[in-house]
Amino acid sequence: MEKQLRSRQWFGKKGKDGFIYRAWMRNQGIPDDQFRGKPVIGICNTWSELTPCNAHFRELAESVKRGIIEAGGFPLEFPVMSLGETLMKPTAMLYRNLASMEVEEAIRANPLDGVVLMCGCDKTTPSLVMGACSVDVPAIVISGGAMLTGKFRGRDIGTSDLWRFSEDVRSGVMSEEELNEAEAGMCRSRGHCAVMGTASSMACMVEALGLSLPGNAAIPAADANRKVLAQLTGRRIVEMVHEDLKPSDILTREAFENAIAVNAAIGGSTNFVIHLLAIAGRVGVPLELEDFDRFSRQVPLIANLQPSGRYFMEDLYYAGGLPAVMKQIAEKLHGGCTTANGKSIAENIRTAKSWDTNVIAMADAPVNPQSGIVVLRGNLCENGAIIKPSAATPALMQHRGKAVVFRDIEDYKQRINDPALDVDANSVLVLQHAGPKGYPGMPEVGNLGLPAKLLQQGVTDMVRISDGRMSGTGFGTVVLHVSPEAAENGTFSLVESGDWISLDVENRRLELEVDDIELAERRKRKAAFQSPYTRGYVRLFVEHVEQADKGADFDFLKGSSGSQVTRDSH
Ligand code: FES
Ligand code: MG
Repeated sequence: MEKQLRSRQWFGKKGKDGFIYRAWMRNQGIPDDQFRGKPVIGICNTWSELTPCNAHFRELAESVKRGIIEAGGFPLEFPVMSLGETLMKPTAMLYRNLASMEVEEAIRANPLDGVVLMCGCDKTTPSLVMGACSVDVPAIVISGGAMLTGKFRGRDIGTSDLWRFSEDVRSGVMSEEELNEAEAGMCRSRGHCAVMGTASSMACMVEALGLSLPGNAAIPAADANRKVLAQLTGRRIVEMVHEDLKPSDILTREAFENAIAVNAAIGGSTNFVIHLLAIAGRVGVPLELEDFDRFSRQVPLIANLQPSGRYFMEDLYYAGGLPAVMKQIAEKLHGGCTTANGKSIAENIRTAKSWDTNVIAMADAPVNPQSGIVVLRGNLCENGAIIKPSAATPALMQHRGKAVVFRDIEDYKQRINDPALDVDANSVLVLQHAGPKGYPGMPEVGNLGLPAKLLQQGVTDMVRISDGRMSGTGFGTVVLHVSPEAAENGTFSLVESGDWISLDVENRRLELEVDDIELAERRKRKAAFQSPYTRGYVRLFVEHVEQADKGADFDFLKGSSGSQVTRDSH
């Protein structure tokens, strides 16, 4: 016998409570039969004009609704906090956990049997998935899709070019007028960043985990097939409710291992690490930083997409989409994992094929034999740090240089272009206090722009180390997510300009060449970090956020509270 629908605890009630639950809904012109045993499907919408990447979501939601109705469900769309990467200060990441709390409570408190999560811009995916996992009702993701490839003076451009353009302007290779022209050509359609940045990496993550229908990651936002997929997603969630297929059934340890391997094959974002760790924490699957190194180590780079490669998300779609990438690394995946369509990963990718091996390479002739995330250890990062070699300079993978330390982002901005700055191409740029507590919110500043005088000499990359993050669209020899962060008073907070630092990616080491006695002296002299944020949400954040190696979730949000609410409102 089918399990009773959760929504019956609201709409199925008699007397005063049932009256209240139904009567006010009827003011929207809803016929009585909609309340009689239909699965109620929430459409959790991150539409906002302040989140340009998700600005088309009202329209996309109509397709989802159509699918839900076709399959016999009752759709109810609701808004949740939307996190726009480009406008929010000091960083959208400061609000990921807040949005996840809102999503969790909104789903639990309302008469929902299942939910469609509408995700797009970077943080909107992890926040919705984290929240849904902590309730664990049937849930499926529809992503908004990437923008069409940008165009500038006859060439293809995407967000990764922003970093190049900005350095070109600073070194005098590009004029302000040209930069303006590029700005007009970059974001020419609806959708999120057109490269394999964090948003696209997140869309791939949900598809690899099995939380979306196959093909979700790559269909462009502007393509009619995005709407078709949204409609099919609406149909499918109704079936998932009947099957009682919940996130906890899909998100096994094997599913997480699959997602890590896929993120390597696509040259995915470093931000994938903290978001996947946080999601695992919500479903109670043990996952640690080393797993990202372990399960991506043998995986070649298959997708030739910026910033690790050459092409754009649009090209990925035309070349076969994520299933075609997964097909190439099939032997590294757990094919038996269940996915949202009720089929296994192996079944979903069975007929997938690369239609353009320039974009989706064959496993025996990959874009790069190595990919993925390397996890570094050493006294400079007692609890780890990460680097993405596919976006870095091979010659800097083993490097020893003198530190040039910036205490915080203001210090960096003030001194980086100073001609008197004691720095050369061999130096290691260190940025402190860009971590979860220190900034706060762990912004994407880790791919620090190089000193102007070195840019003018033609230097294009240097080793940079910080406790912050980097945009998924960014690149360079950038060590990120140093844990513990400077604000936690670990060794990273004790680095001084002139110290020698050695990076050895092959051997997974990051060392500060200062002896323990000297470090102990410095520790004695140093005042402990004090956050100036003493009220409101930011205080809650600083007090409860965990370090990057744990996923930067709040300590009290780990796990699930389930979907039960026993008491009524009146
Ligand atoms: Fe939204 Fe890049 S800014 S995905
Ligand atoms: Mg970003």
